[in-house]
Amino acid sequence: MSSVLFDAVTCVYPGAERPSVDDLTLSIDDGEFLVLVGPSGCGKSTTLRMLAGLEQVTSGTIRIGDRDVTDVEPKDRDIAMVFQNYALYPHMSVAENMGFALKLAGVNRADREQKVRETARLLDLEAVLDRKPKALSGGQRQRVAMGRAIVREPKVFLMDEPLSNLDARLRVQTRGEIARLTRELGITTVYVTHDQTEAMTMGHRVAVLKDGVLQQLSAPTTLYDRPNNAFVAGFIGSPSMSLFTVPVADGRPMLNGRALSGPVEAAGGLVQAGIRPEDVHLAAPDEANTELTVDAVEVLGAEAFVYGRTHVHGADSARLTARVSGRRHPGIGETVPVRLNTEQLHLFDAATGRRLEATVSA
Ligand SMILES: Nc1ncnc2c1ncn2[C@@H]1O[C@H](COP(=O)(O)OP(=O)(O)O)[C@@H](O)[C@H]1O
Ligand SMILES: [Mg+2]
Repeated sequence: MSSVLFDAVTCVYPGAERPSVDDLTLSIDDGEFLVLVGPSGCGKSTTLRMLAGLEQVTSGTIRIGDRDVTDVEPKDRDIAMVFQNYALYPHMSVAENMGFALKLAGVNRADREQKVRETARLLDLEAVLDRKPKALSGGQRQRVAMGRAIVREPKVFLMDEPLSNLDARLRVQTRGEIARLTRELGITTVYVTHDQTEAMTMGHRVAVLKDGVLQQLSAPTTLYDRPNNAFVAGFIGSPSMSLFTVPVADGRPMLNGRALSGPVEAAGGLVQAGIRPEDVHLAAPDEANTELTVDAVEVLGAEAFVYGRTHVHGADSARLTARVSGRRHPGIGETVPVRLNTEQLHLFDAATGRRLEATVSA
C-alpha cells in the first residue's frame, strides 16, 4: 500500500501546441479511492498513464510512497492497471488468465494456484475458473480483468473507465463491487471516468479536470454543495444545474428586478447565478419569483424533470430545469410560476467563473 503524489506534473505530447495535463499537483492518501473525472479529452487517461509510466512526464515529479518514480520503468512501479478494453487471453482459462502475471514473475505453481483461488473467491468466480473467456458474461469478464490485477497485490490500482463496456444495470452493480473490493483490500486506487454519477458514488474524493487543469479536489458532497467554479457546478449533478447571467444592482444579483441574494463583489455589473433542479419549485403566483415556460418533461415515476426557459432580465431568457412530482407536473407549452430557493443559489464571477459568496442573504 502506498500514497501517490503528482507534483507540478505537465505532459505535452510531441508536436502538441498545449499541454494535455497542465501543472497538476495532486496528493492521494494511502488506501484512498480517488476518482479523476472530466469530459472527454480533458487529460484523465494521460494522467493515469503517466502514473503507470506509459507516458513521458514533460516536467514535474511523480511519487509512489516515498519513491520518486518519474523515470522508473512501468514494470518496476508496482502498479496494476485495468482498462476499458480488458483484453483477456482467449485461449487461456479464467484461472490461467488470472495467474499469468504471477507465472511471468516466477511464482511457483502451488502458490499461484492458491492466490488465484483466493482471488476468485473474493470475486465470485470460483465456479468459472476452468472456462474460457468466450463462455463468460460481460460482468464476469470484467471481474476476471479485476482479478488479474488483484492477484499481483500491487501498491496502486489504476482503472481507466473499466465499466464502459457493461450495460447500465451491470455497471451499477459492478461499481458497487469495485468500491467494496478496493475498500476491503485497502489498496490505493485511482479511478478514471467521464461519468459524474460514477465519480459521486465511488470516490472518497473526486478530482475534476478540464483542459488538463485541475478544477477542484473535494469530497463528493462538497463538489455538489460548493462547486469552486461554474464549470464544476455544471458538470457535477444530473440533470445539470441551471446557470444564467444576471445584472447586478447595488451589488445585488437581480432576477427580473428582484434581488436574488445579498451583495456580492461582482466585476463588470454581471454575475452568473446557478440553481439545481431540486431548488426550483412549482409555486403559487404570490410566492413565485419567476416563471417557467415548459418545453420538455421527463417523468421518471416518483419524480419528473421539467425543462424550459425563464425570463432573466428585460428580453433575456435562460434555460431552467425543475424537479417536481411525477404525479403532478405541468405540460409542454405551459408557463407556470416557480420559486427558486435563493438560499441554495450559487454565484459565480461572470468573466472568470470563480465562485462568489454573498456577504448577507437577501
Ligand atoms: N498519444 C497522444 N499524442 C498526442 N496527443 C494526445 C495523445 N493522447 C492523448 N492526446 C491528447 O491529449 C488530450 C487528453 O487526452 P486524454 O488524456 O486521452 O483525455 P481523456 O482520457 O480525459 O479523454 C486530448 O486532447 C488528446 O487528443
Ligand atoms: Mg481516456
